[in-house]
Amino acid sequence: MKCRRCKAPAVIDIRRHNAAFCADCFLHHTREQVRRAVDEFEMIAPGERVLVAVSGGKDSLALWDLLAELGIPADGLYLGLGIGDYSDESGRHARAFADARGLHLIEVDLRERYGYDVPTAAAATRRAPCGACGLSKRHLFNQFALDGEYDVVATGHNLDDEAAVLLGNVLHWEVGYLGRQFPVLPASTGFARKVKPLVKLGEREMAAYCVLRGIDYQIEECPMAVGNRHLGLKETLNQLEDRSPGAKAAFLSGFWNRGHDAFASEADEERAELRACVECGAPTTAERCAFCALRAKAGAHEPVVARVELRGAS
Ligand code: AMP
Ligand code: FES
Ligand code: ZN
Repeated sequence: MKCRRCKAPAVIDIRRHNAAFCADCFLHHTREQVRRAVDEFEMIAPGERVLVAVSGGKDSLALWDLLAELGIPADGLYLGLGIGDYSDESGRHARAFADARGLHLIEVDLRERYGYDVPTAAAATRRAPCGACGLSKRHLFNQFALDGEYDVVATGHNLDDEAAVLLGNVLHWEVGYLGRQFPVLPASTGFARKVKPLVKLGEREMAAYCVLRGIDYQIEECPMAVGNRHLGLKETLNQLEDRSPGAKAAFLSGFWNRGHDAFASEADEERAELRACVECGAPTTAERCAFCALRAKAGAHEPVVARVELRGAS
């Protein structure tokens, strides 16, 4: 196998592009995919203040690195979700990355700052942990972006993540979610702009990028997410991709180009009904936002420690 760009021996092949690359050209290819996503979807304008949500995993650390490589400075935000050793180690990876490069990382511990953590929230709501986790993350990414006067929040959602979410949303015809599923979500009252610069890159490419760049990341999947619906959808899509390389990317880009607009009005209607949460001011359809409600409920619950037995649950 030879590199498509320079004909040197290749170290990785990407079937979806029908191409293989040597290490240097792969890094170049990865940067190009991010640059193209940023340009095509007008994610970040020159001089804007960027906040990267950093989990300590491969995608978000690679994203932080890639933005720097593209000359887009960004601060990081790490949320300590309180999922036992998994969270402790994730935080260490995020911190080590920031320290080594002299980057500014904002660290927020859910229990210290808001009086609850994800395992306790899951127990208090008797729901799958990912629900409380996702809700907390979305709320806090937005809150810290607004409070810190950042123009945009970037997350490390990659092509595989987005294709799986799209499949889930289509299977259940979640029209509101479909209206909001796009690589860029513009700012609106109470909401900072959200962007996903890795949407043109797959999971395997992100792992390879980290290895080649010497980025040490949290390899473990979240122990509370193991067995959830999202991971099942990823497996299904991987089977499809195996048979027809490029299927995932075509599914996703077809939706962006031809499907998304049809649902955008659903999201607009939802936004029109929003008012400010009486406690924190975040946009909500109720008197009190879902985050404040969760915080009250989980905060009143006896703390629950994440246990290894939680693997395969939810
Ligand atoms: P996930 O929801 O775990 O698939 O993560 C999607 C994206 O959310 C990651 O790529 C990060 O950008 C961000 N993220 C996830 N977990 C955290 C965390 N604990 N702190 C900050 N950002 C996170
Ligand atoms: Fe949210 Fe695991 S990272 S439940
Ligand atoms: Zn609130």
